[in-house]
Amino acid sequence: MAIRLPSAWKEELLARTDIVSVVSSYVTLKKDGRRYWGLCPFHNEKTPSFSVNADMNMYYCFGCKATGDAIKFVMEMERAPFMDAVKILADRAHMALPELQEDPDYEHRRSQRERLLAANRDAARFYHDTLWKPEGKAALDYLHNRGLTDGVIRRFGLGASTSQWDDLTNFLTEKGYTREELNLAGLTVVKGDHAFDMFRSRAMFPIIDQYNHVLGFGGRAMQKDAKPKYLNTSDTPVFNKRKGVYAINLIRKNRDLKRIILVEGYMDVVAISQAGVVGAVATLGTALTNEQARLLGRYAPEVYLCYDGDEAGQHAIERGLDILEAEGVPCRVIYLPDGLDPDEFIRQRGLDAFEAIQPMRPPAYRMQRLRLQYNLETQDGRAEYAKKCAELLRNVRDPVDLENYLEALAVQTGFSRDVLLAQIGAQTAANENAAALLPQPERRPRERMPRQPEGYKTEQTLLALLATGRLPQGMVKETDFDSENLRLIAGRLIAGETPEAIVSDEDLTDDVRQAAGEAFSALTAAEEDNAASVAGDCLRNLRIRNLTREIKELTESMRTLDSAEKQMQMLTEIQGLSKELEQLKQQGR
Ligand code: UTP
Ligand code: MN
Repeated sequence: MAIRLPSAWKEELLARTDIVSVVSSYVTLKKDGRRYWGLCPFHNEKTPSFSVNADMNMYYCFGCKATGDAIKFVMEMERAPFMDAVKILADRAHMALPELQEDPDYEHRRSQRERLLAANRDAARFYHDTLWKPEGKAALDYLHNRGLTDGVIRRFGLGASTSQWDDLTNFLTEKGYTREELNLAGLTVVKGDHAFDMFRSRAMFPIIDQYNHVLGFGGRAMQKDAKPKYLNTSDTPVFNKRKGVYAINLIRKNRDLKRIILVEGYMDVVAISQAGVVGAVATLGTALTNEQARLLGRYAPEVYLCYDGDEAGQHAIERGLDILEAEGVPCRVIYLPDGLDPDEFIRQRGLDAFEAIQPMRPPAYRMQRLRLQYNLETQDGRAEYAKKCAELLRNVRDPVDLENYLEALAVQTGFSRDVLLAQIGAQTAANENAAALLPQPERRPRERMPRQPEGYKTEQTLLALLATGRLPQGMVKETDFDSENLRLIAGRLIAGETPEAIVSDEDLTDDVRQAAGEAFSALTAAEEDNAASVAGDCLRNLRIRNLTREIKELTESMRTLDSAEKQMQMLTEIQGLSKELEQLKQQGR
């Protein structure tokens, strides 16, 4: 049966549903201004950053960025599919379910997805069952030789692909899957008239998502120098290696997880889990992506990066920290000595030694890495190193932490604490001047916020005001927004879409939905009450930002002009803009 709710019916359901009371049956909420606040049910936290906005029928978490309408909330809390959540809410609101509409395209995509997931599940069972048969003995021996027990092999559903060309293909064909389905799922390779198994003679690691769907596989070659060492399912309609995380299915069950340990390899996850480490996951053969960082941020309050101790691994840690920090996910580094990977470390030195490693905070780790680049025996080396570290340390907000880093740096470089502090201060001042231009709202939780471009907050306020429906028509236009995401959202609002429809629209990317949730939730009561005049201020401030930018660009390009005449022309233009800028600034006073 195709499922798509008539949109008028869905709108009525949401209008009749009091999102505050729905959320309250799971989360204790407290009113503050116009919002309700509580501890986020989707990630671990001690101070509330989960907000419910009754006017816009939506929720947003300033910590993990979870956002959506009442239906989405029930789906997440009950781990229920869309229609089940709809039924729960329809019952609450005493509404009968409507006639469901046919949508052939949607139905096709949904049923294809289901078929591919089912094929993957059957394949995972087949590989796992094979492991205990004679034709899987080589793989079982391999896994045993790597120190794995049958218990952990079962927990991770590991398996064996045989040396035959088509064992899996035959098995799944008999179960009724078509050649096209198996090919789409990445389980077979078609050559001419023949379909062959994609994986042969490999130890198999099924990749399972947080909803227990088998999305794909990683296959480890068993001979020493076989290439590639790991063969992974390439992207399919159900598998995207940039979005998924290995072993997230096991993490999901653990609601009180203190931290996630992100490692590089499947084998590392399995081996350290067997040893007793909780919360280990890995990316899927690629560097950490922003999507994965956000996903991880939702499952634990902190992420520890524990990559291989070699240079490649250490370099990847720095990139990983950049991404986690940009996504506002608190993170630390577990540094493994002697070039070992987590699997090797734990087998050679044991769980106690692993747990005894002190996780390093990002600035400490980055200082350790920087140190390798400079020769601290020379005056120049020490000075350059001190300057680079000062740049790092300007982001440290906690005074006690800062003091500790300064002390270490003073010992390493011989510069006094005051000199180092002055170096940090000089950089901080330069940064803050640029940010001072725009008005700061009264309540906006600051922790875990990624760095944002200039004027972004003003654009957020403007967007949220637009979403309240309190602005005169035509006052705000799409082109008022610099941020691509916000511009897209503004377009949808202007076209008449509701805020709650935008934050729960599955066809939008997470980035866009989260940007909408954040913007809509950041509005203060005072801003909302004076919607039109605040929007006027925002528009003026954005105009000031744009003019300032334009003047700066023109001034820079003027220097490169060769003819005096052109320079004069440009100067006149700059003067015109400057005049306009002055007037705008006057109005603001
Ligand atoms: P490593 O080469 O560090 O492997 O790759 P490992 O985890 O130590 O594996 P073992 O211990 O030799 O079995 C780390 C990860 O990089 C991806 C895989 O996801 C692997 O888990 N990788 C590596 C590939 O996708 N293809 C390869 O050929 C190698
Ligand atoms: Mn290894």
